[in-house]
Amino acid sequence: MLSLFDGEAPWQEPLGPGAMILRRFASAQAQSLLQAIEQVATDSPFRQMVTPGGYRMSVAMTSCGPLGWVSSPQGYRYAECDPLNHRPWPAMPEALRRLAETAAFDAGYPEFRPDACLINRYAPGAKLSLHQDKDERDLSAPIVSVSLGLPAIFQFGGAKRHDPLRRFLLEHGDVVVWGGPSRLWYHGIQPLKPGHHPATGECRYNLTFRRVAQSE
Ligand code: SIN
Ligand code: FE2
Repeated sequence: MLSLFDGEAPWQEPLGPGAMILRRFASAQAQSLLQAIEQVATDSPFRQMVTPGGYRMSVAMTSCGPLGWVSSPQGYRYAECDPLNHRPWPAMPEALRRLAETAAFDAGYPEFRPDACLINRYAPGAKLSLHQDKDERDLSAPIVSVSLGLPAIFQFGGAKRHDPLRRFLLEHGDVVVWGGPSRLWYHGIQPLKPGHHPATGECRYNLTFRRVAQSE
């Protein structure tokens, strides 16, 4: 088949029970994903939120879809409106939703229908400390995470905070899916190394698709 994309073909790497890395799964669509991110950010700009502990996060975030993730000194939560402009979060662009659903399908989660997409932007030095994604009500759905731009080191542990960590370099176009037995496993991103990527310049973007509300 004729293709405009001349990169390497995707391949899968097992990561744990219910978890895998779909290497380069998003490479061919990267340009349209980045355009979609730009479009979301014109309505709901990237911002560095403050944690309940009072720290300003190094990662800048925005969201799209029916629900968006917000952090403030009052706590973490999913909200229907962007607290910056008090309007609903931008709709989830079709290109993003389709990519998340096909990745989940390939990883063994054919029913995945995300209702939230959190968009992270990492500048050099930005990191995400070890945490669990546990603010979602529907824990039967996986997390689908898409990496674009500069590479980053992803730490993947286990169900307990002090379980040993394994480290994986996530590169442009890589998708990680974790769910089922590993849905609540600890994970994080080590401080981003400075660099230049032809698609994103000096930064890394990460999209995490989640199902927050219980599906009918
Ligand atoms: C997350 O843990 O929610 C995002 C991880 C990443 O940036 O790869
Ligand atoms: Fe997370």
